[in-house]
Amino acid sequence: MSNKPSAELPSLSPMVIDFSQFEDHAGLVSRWAAEFNRQLESMPVADMSDPIPESRPSPETGNGFEGAFRAFRNLIAPHLAASAGPRYWGFVTGGATPAAQLGDWLVSTIDQNVGSAGDSIASAIEQQTIGWLLDMVDLPSEFSGILTTGATASNLLGLTCGRQHAGLQQGIDIAEEGLSNADIEVFSATPHASTVKCLAMVGLGRKSWRPVACLENSEAMDVSDLERQLAASTCPGKVVVASTGTVTGNDFDDLQAIADLCQRYQAWLHVDAAFGLFSRLIPEMKPWSAGLERADSITSDAHKWLNVPYDCGIFFTRHQQLLMESCSADAAYLKTESRIPSFMNMGIENSRRFRALPLWMSLEAYGVEGVRQIVSANCEQARQFANWLQSSDDFSLLKECQMNVVVFKPAALQGEDVARFLSEINQTGEVFMTPGVWQGHAAIRAAFSNWQTTSDDVARVCHLLEKLIRH
Ligand SMILES: Cc1ncc(COP(=O)(O)O)c(C=O)c1O
Repeated sequence: MSNKPSAELPSLSPMVIDFSQFEDHAGLVSRWAAEFNRQLESMPVADMSDPIPESRPSPETGNGFEGAFRAFRNLIAPHLAASAGPRYWGFVTGGATPAAQLGDWLVSTIDQNVGSAGDSIASAIEQQTIGWLLDMVDLPSEFSGILTTGATASNLLGLTCGRQHAGLQQGIDIAEEGLSNADIEVFSATPHASTVKCLAMVGLGRKSWRPVACLENSEAMDVSDLERQLAASTCPGKVVVASTGTVTGNDFDDLQAIADLCQRYQAWLHVDAAFGLFSRLIPEMKPWSAGLERADSITSDAHKWLNVPYDCGIFFTRHQQLLMESCSADAAYLKTESRIPSFMNMGIENSRRFRALPLWMSLEAYGVEGVRQIVSANCEQARQFANWLQSSDDFSLLKECQMNVVVFKPAALQGEDVARFLSEINQTGEVFMTPGVWQGHAAIRAAFSNWQTTSDDVARVCHLLEKLIRH
């Protein structure tokens, strides 16, 4: 048989993919990125037109990098949010420090697959970064962990481990045999929406959790109600999901008391500390999360208060073996020889980007002290904003501000009118905030978690709110 191409086949023009102009193209991107960073402060904070790209056929022949970059600048760039900027106060967003941004560029260039160790230093750097994080927030070295895509993925791992633990208490290896014979109850006071979503994904169901009462005017758990419920439960597999910094009220559960109960009732203790974890850097706030070191698993995020680009979540557990039983991927071609465990056996994905590098670079560049300064400044800005709201006749501060989230509403408005006022605020493009509910009432949330925010930004927003409410 001849190896020659058949004469009938059409000849394809060669695709031009090479590195010959890489430096020039990288220069274009770098200049654009520098200008974007400069403009973050002054560009509209959100594009409220809710843009949808015009329908275009997928490009049959490419336009080269310059064509693609032109299309990005014309079609995408005008519709971006300044979510990395100083007045994006929605959700709990965080920005990206310069070192973290540039570290993230490198991640794409070097394109390491941090699924299995044994072919580069990347897995060892992830392990080192986990160790730095544990040191930073003063958690003992018996914890190990993995960087995830975000706090939602970390909550998924926490519930997966909790589920495995609960199954083993009943003689069922859920990772091997499935859930069908297992009896599991989950107790929580104010689980983040992502935890409820994860209950659906781990097969326990969104409606499966038992609500524990909250303390008055707080989202923190009433521990006496937890005790009552745990004592009354005949379920052999129990999981408690506690919070270190709830997303609206910034409330902290009493983890010492909860850990005592979990020990007594052999319940798995998972703590969602997505951003509250970093309050441990501030001496007067650190006692709020006392007992965290007794958790079985902990969720946190680096893409929030650590100001690294999406996506970078954190998962810690004291039970690495149990995590590996739950997540191991077994195939001959996946086995490697390394002193570092394969992260594919500790998390959701098999193939993973070098997620640790931006965080590692940011910590190398600014140190723990840099993070402490960001956390401390953001808490001070939240206090400044809350104090202004409290002193204003036009606004009501709904909850005393204790960390970095401020919950408020216009004094005279309720329900839908609060949402309309929020929309007016966001339409100005000067600031972006998100809705919330406080004690059953519609509210506006402002969350401070960006390294670039200053007290001048707060003053500017106070002035804007005054103008809008009085017009
Ligand atoms: C307490 C808490 N848990 C979980 C999440 C989910 O985080 P992510 O969006 O990174 O998955 C958030 C996000 O705001 C949060 O505040």
